[in-house]
Amino acid sequence: TKTYRIAVIPGDGIGKEVTPVAQAALEKAADGVASFTYENFDLGAERYLRDGAILPDEDLERIKGTDAILLGAVGDPRIKAGILERGLLLKLRFSLDQYINLRPSKLYRGVTSPLANPGDIDFVVVREGTEGLYCGAGGAVRRGTPNEVATEVSINTAFGVERVVRYAFQLAMKRKKHVTLVHKKNVLVNAGDMWQRIVDKVGEEFPQVTHDYLHIDATTIFLVSNPSRFDVILTDNLFGDILTDEAGAVVGGVGYSASGNINASNEYPSMFEPIHGSAPDIAGKGIANPTAAVLSSAMLLRHLGFDEAAAKIDRAVEADIAELGSTKRTTEEVGRDILARI
Ligand code: NAD
Ligand code: IPM
Ligand code: MN
Repeated sequence: TKTYRIAVIPGDGIGKEVTPVAQAALEKAADGVASFTYENFDLGAERYLRDGAILPDEDLERIKGTDAILLGAVGDPRIKAGILERGLLLKLRFSLDQYINLRPSKLYRGVTSPLANPGDIDFVVVREGTEGLYCGAGGAVRRGTPNEVATEVSINTAFGVERVVRYAFQLAMKRKKHVTLVHKKNVLVNAGDMWQRIVDKVGEEFPQVTHDYLHIDATTIFLVSNPSRFDVILTDNLFGDILTDEAGAVVGGVGYSASGNINASNEYPSMFEPIHGSAPDIAGKGIANPTAAVLSSAMLLRHLGFDEAAAKIDRAVEADIAELGSTKRTTEEVGRDILARI
């Protein structure tokens, strides 16, 4: 049997606290089914402060040779915003062409939603992962002068949009067969129009899947007023980033929200991480919720084809939350409780 190589990048802050729990869950769920070797990468704030390295080429090359990546979070208040986020996290997503950013939201029984009447919430955001405003196109001229001009250009290619649109429809086929395109086509007329035309065209290949459209601003309303209406939300990189934090809050907190950065053509490894960040406000206290990281391990297993092992983690998390979701626990305690159920 094949041994899978997993790159582990705990990163910064609570990333370092939740990733070992995710790794332990992965190991336990895969026991007897798949064998994994783990390669730890010392990347993130400490490394950068020590020797200035963010993502050395040799590390990137080594990561390219692995089968999947487990990542915690990156970002540190001591370091200028963007250096690690762009230089490490986005560099990985872009270099590994992880064009699908898959972010499920589910309200588990036992979790308290901030909504009075949340209803059944179970949708997935399919966020484009390699284009849009995240490309890094743009710049600042006359920086620091009264005449400074700063630009950030949103790049949307027909190729890049079509592949994520097709993925969303394929995913909808396995779910409730509904896709909601979210954009701002009333203002961003160039990109918005292209996204809509591609959705209409690809949609014809999936006659069983219905699709509709919402502007991003209205979507933020429906996400709290009627989240049950959603099945697959399809959107661009920045809108997807913002919506998924809101979605996380609606299902009880980003501590429950996992994600996969997927290279669906399997040309490079895919990367699994909680949607939350390094949470400097609680880092070091041992109280971060590791559930999102653990659920990311389940997504990793499913991506590699180990559906039953993944389901073991999902069931363990579900049972843990149902029984103990409302109790105050440390990271270690939640980890121990979930592991005992896998
Ligand atoms: P954040 O997600 O780190 O924190 C937002 C809020 O959610 C904080 O109050 C935090 O305590 C809470 N929170 C987050 N995860 C939690 C968990 N598992 N359990 C309990 N509470 C949790 O977002 P931020 O504060 O905007 O960003 C902090 C740093 O993380 C920044 O440097 C940012 O760039 C970076 N960041 C990285 C990623 C990533 O690596 N994927 C994602 C988001 C933000
Ligand atoms: C996320 C984060 C990242 C993003 C940042 C840290 C680059 O917010 O994973 O949601 O915007 O994608
Ligand atoms: Mn985000």
